[in-house]
Amino acid sequence: MVTWSAPGRVTLVGEHVDYNGGPVLPFAIDRRTEVTIRRRPDLRVIVTSQGVGTAEISSPLCPGSDSGWERYVAGALWAFSVGARRDVDGLDIDIASALPTGAGLSSSAAIECAVLCALNDLSGVDRTPRQIADLALRAEREYVGVPCGPMDQYAVMLAEVGHALCLDSGSLDTEQIPFHLDAAGLTLLVVNTRVRHTLGDGAYGDRRTACEQAAAMLGADSLRDVTVDRVLGLPDPVLRRRAHHVVTEIARVRKVVRLLRSGRPGEIGALLTASHRSLSDDFEVSCAELDTVVEAALAAGALGARMTGAGFGGSAIVLCRSAESAVVADRVFETFETSGFREPDVWPAGPAAGARRQTR
Ligand code: GLA
Repeated sequence: MVTWSAPGRVTLVGEHVDYNGGPVLPFAIDRRTEVTIRRRPDLRVIVTSQGVGTAEISSPLCPGSDSGWERYVAGALWAFSVGARRDVDGLDIDIASALPTGAGLSSSAAIECAVLCALNDLSGVDRTPRQIADLALRAEREYVGVPCGPMDQYAVMLAEVGHALCLDSGSLDTEQIPFHLDAAGLTLLVVNTRVRHTLGDGAYGDRRTACEQAAAMLGADSLRDVTVDRVLGLPDPVLRRRAHHVVTEIARVRKVVRLLRSGRPGEIGALLTASHRSLSDDFEVSCAELDTVVEAALAAGALGARMTGAGFGGSAIVLCRSAESAVVADRVFETFETSGFREPDVWPAGPAAGARRQTR
């Protein structure tokens, strides 16, 4: 029997950039998904998720065939057996998660990575964290069918305490960027709006397609190396706005990385807010609840705020001085109440560790 846990992530900045080959800056949060795997004497694979239910994974594993919550586990088993060129034996898989699903915090990558880590461990297969991230990506893209970029799986596998992970999603080079909130007197709040988002409903894929069309019209392989001036020359207004978000977001990631490298985390707030406005106006993936978090937090004195993850619901992050974090959180709660929105879930988060083996 082995137990592994994997974290959720927030994107500090660099949203909808990872499938355009640009740099992104996520970090892992200390809300984790724990997966315990033990062998069974038969060939059945039974998955139990605490508070959700029990499901049997059918055999043979067939990409695109499942639609239930267990498809992330099935995808990880499929990627494992493809990578290891062997069938999966009978298994009992237990999942306990402190990570809300549909909250834009990468609960799917956390399950995929934790299952893959546990399977490798149980089977004595030696794989690096990057190799596991690549298999988890295959699970998400090829088995579950979401045309995502590499950010979530790499963040979940490679994150380090006290650091954001700068991932070049073209070359997959990484750099650990120090991000010490406490020492700078800062607090980062995660606000889960509880508006459930799903990546499977097509809007995510539409955004990706628009970016690819914009790049093709500009004669580029990706938007990564395209300048703002060239984007502004695109004749189609929708493609122009989508591409404008991507190229300006890439510039914001580079600026945030420079500020963090020089130990100035208190100065990144305006860039986070600019990222939100760009996602809301140009990329059109925000919603009333996410916009409300940002505006309420800024009005209460936050340094910066933005939606995090793919959008269409999910969570926002708010950077504030620690002394002001209670006032900022209260304002978000009050504004949600007067707007008639569901009460959000709000908690402070700092850069946490990536996937790891749990000892008991
Ligand atoms: C989801 C995807 C990621 C990334 C983000 C948006 O989380 O899984 O690959 O595209 O959306 O930045």
